[in-house]
Amino acid sequence: MLSGLLPSALQYLIASLVWSKEPLSEPFHPQSLAFELRHEHGLSYHDRVVFRDTVSSALTQQDFTLTSSRVKVHRPASVADFMSARFRQSSTIPWDETEVEGPDVTNRQTLQTLAKMAANAYQEPTDKEWYDLGAEWNNSYPFGWEPDADGFRGHIFATPDNSTVVISVKGTSAGWYTGGGGPTTRKDKLNDNLLFSCCCARVGPTWSTVCGCYEGNYKCDQGCLEKSLAEDSLFYSVGVNLYNNVTYMYPNSNIWLVGHSLGGSLGSLVGVTFGVPAVAFEAPGDKLAAKRLHLPSPPSTQHVTHVYHTADPIPQGTCTGVRSVCAIAGFALETGCHIGKVIRYDTVSKLGWSVDARTHGIHVIVDRLLAEDWDNEDSGINMTIPGFYEEEDCVDCHNWEFGDFRNASVAMCASIP
Ligand SMILES: *[C@@H]1O[C@H](CO)[C@@H](O)[C@H](O)[C@H]1NC(C)=O
Ligand SMILES: *[C@@H]1O[C@H](CO)[C@@H](O)[C@H](O)[C@H]1NC(C)=O
Ligand SMILES: *[C@@H]1O[C@H](CO)[C@@H](O)[C@H](O)[C@H]1NC(C)=O
Ligand SMILES: *[C@@H]1O[C@H](CO)[C@@H](O)[C@H](O)[C@H]1NC(C)=O
Ligand SMILES: *[C@@H]1O[C@H](CO)[C@@H](O)[C@H](O)[C@H]1NC(C)=O
Repeated sequence: MLSGLLPSALQYLIASLVWSKEPLSEPFHPQSLAFELRHEHGLSYHDRVVFRDTVSSALTQQDFTLTSSRVKVHRPASVADFMSARFRQSSTIPWDETEVEGPDVTNRQTLQTLAKMAANAYQEPTDKEWYDLGAEWNNSYPFGWEPDADGFRGHIFATPDNSTVVISVKGTSAGWYTGGGGPTTRKDKLNDNLLFSCCCARVGPTWSTVCGCYEGNYKCDQGCLEKSLAEDSLFYSVGVNLYNNVTYMYPNSNIWLVGHSLGGSLGSLVGVTFGVPAVAFEAPGDKLAAKRLHLPSPPSTQHVTHVYHTADPIPQGTCTGVRSVCAIAGFALETGCHIGKVIRYDTVSKLGWSVDARTHGIHVIVDRLLAEDWDNEDSGINMTIPGFYEEEDCVDCHNWEFGDFRNASVAMCASIP
């Protein structure tokens, strides 16, 4: 019965995945990697991932270089186990542990370069806001990429030898923080509200929710919620497709994911699915989304890194309530618990920033937050960025009750979250 709910994208995943179990054959030395932009990706009207090539000269080292480091990742030992666990909702499957080359997330410049990659995912290369990557541009359109396609866009970068490939994923194009909106806004909003709200954006009595699972008195029907996600949550399955398509194009490459906001959450979810390094900037809490999507949880998610700051209410799930700027813009981003390790800049206490959704923009991250070393003097940490921590005791949607209100004979989802 559940397979009937599966987007074809996920069925494609079952049929096509090949997991690489190859450990690094050479001893690893941290190295400098210079990336060049290869492709743009987008979503066609038929929800297919499409690509177009960007023809460019090599990006200058200075503009787009970062340091790599060794990262331990966990990958499902078999695709079949992973998929059947997802649909049986059992989280115990065998995992393979391996080490891959990942971004050195202790390095501020590396984080800044990744943030620029995520920032560029918002724009066409000809837009003035496109960061100067020091290269000349020439686009060709061999894959039928449609410029006005809805939702979900980004770029694919690679090192000249194709050893490492970075997939960047754009965030939500809400007019109130990127200054424009655009064709992707509507679909982004639906997906944000399904994945990152407690009960399909039941923000207040005047809100029409994006699914009909509200049962009154802060009760939400879990089965209904998960059915809606399976049917309507395009983004996760698109992310899975995107990843598969990129591994098809670059079968021997080491792949990383980066993204901002919703794009960051997506990168993180796909990173957990495939056991690949992911770095997310200012992303809403993704732990609840991972549960709702029934992603089996690996023994460790240390290969996923979240970077956010405390003046941005969105990653903290505090841009809520009917009068919040998020609600006014039609977003219910209510989750604040993140997968993996977190680098949290306390811009409120240390820099005196006020909490304001306008600090959510990726340009704030690139041009202000990551442009300078972080002063850790009083905490005794000898790093140019804040330390890492895990949001282990974090609880989302604590004022909500989730359960099987519609059909007491079905108990399978009652324990989530
Ligand atoms: C892009 O490439 C095509 C053919 O490869 C060429 O005709 C065209 O002039 C180039 N455009 C730019 C702006 O360089
Ligand atoms: C890198 O991959 C691309 C496919 O996108 C291919 O055209 C190119 O020849 C590869 N380069 C190297 C050095 O392997
Ligand atoms: C990309 O994924 C789609 C599924 O959305 C699949 O039909 C297509 O064959 C894939 N393309 C490549 C090149 O892997
Ligand atoms: C802090 O880092 C600097 C530069 O890496 C190093 O020289 C110094 O010894 C470190 N101090 C401590 C207390 O670890
Ligand atoms: C209730 O659960 C039973 C058994 O799983 C199922 O056959 C039935 O369709 C469900 N009814 C509703 C209204 O969901």
